Amino acid sequence: MKDLCSIAIDGPAGAGKSTVARIVAEKLGFEYVDTGAMYRAYTLKVLNMNLDPENRDHVLSILEDTDIDFMENHIYLDGKIVDDEIRDNKVSKQVSYIASIKEVREKMVEIQQLIAKKRSVVMDGRDITTVVLPKANFKFFVTASVEERGRRRFLELQSKGIKDITLEEIIGDIARRDNIDSNREESPLTLTEDSVLVDTTSLTIEESVDRIISIVKEGRLDCSTQ
Ligand code: DC
Repeated sequence: MKDLCSIAIDGPAGAGKSTVARIVAEKLGFEYVDTGAMYRAYTLKVLNMNLDPENRDHVLSILEDTDIDFMENHIYLDGKIVDDEIRDNKVSKQVSYIASIKEVREKMVEIQQLIAKKRSVVMDGRDITTVVLPKANFKFFVTASVEERGRRRFLELQSKGIKDITLEEIIGDIARRDNIDSNREESPLTLTEDSVLVDTTSLTIEESVDRIISIVKEGRLDCSTQ
């Protein structure tokens, strides 16, 4: 019997974590789990139900009746795929507050840990190395300068035809989210001592992927794959 293996990746918004994590998972035959998408899906539901996303009681009123899962590169909200809807700017603007609520986090962490008990995973987020998979086989902290992260997001939006936001506004939004994610009371984003730092500021996606894969290969683990 091969082992279940886990690769935990944390880092700030826009560092290229998800792109890199998805490719690493594909190359290794592991399941990719985008935990940010899960917090986004919860936020989408709060907004769709016209609840106040900054009112804790409103946010928690749907906790028991909400079903969220991430499978085969898709995010499910109450059984429906919501991959596109969760990327909407209105979701991005509200998600940090909702992700700071303890009860919401506890529910998401439970789901994430269950997934990692069934499959070898590459999981990315903000608390994966610290809370969700503290005993992961490999831990990485993927980051880039705030200016570079802003520039990448700006180019991405431009390529989608979204031109009503300036580079400065995007950098401001990212810095605000960094601040909330790193300074919140519940499971703040932290670079742990046992994580390998991957600064992608001047790396291509392939170079970032190669760096992670070569470290994993050095570990010579016999992991179960899909
Ligand atoms: O990675 P992302 O931008 O899609 O994450 C969306 C938000 O969710 C972001 O504010 C950080 C938060 N998040 C979190 O608190 N814990 C995670 N494991 C993943 C994301």
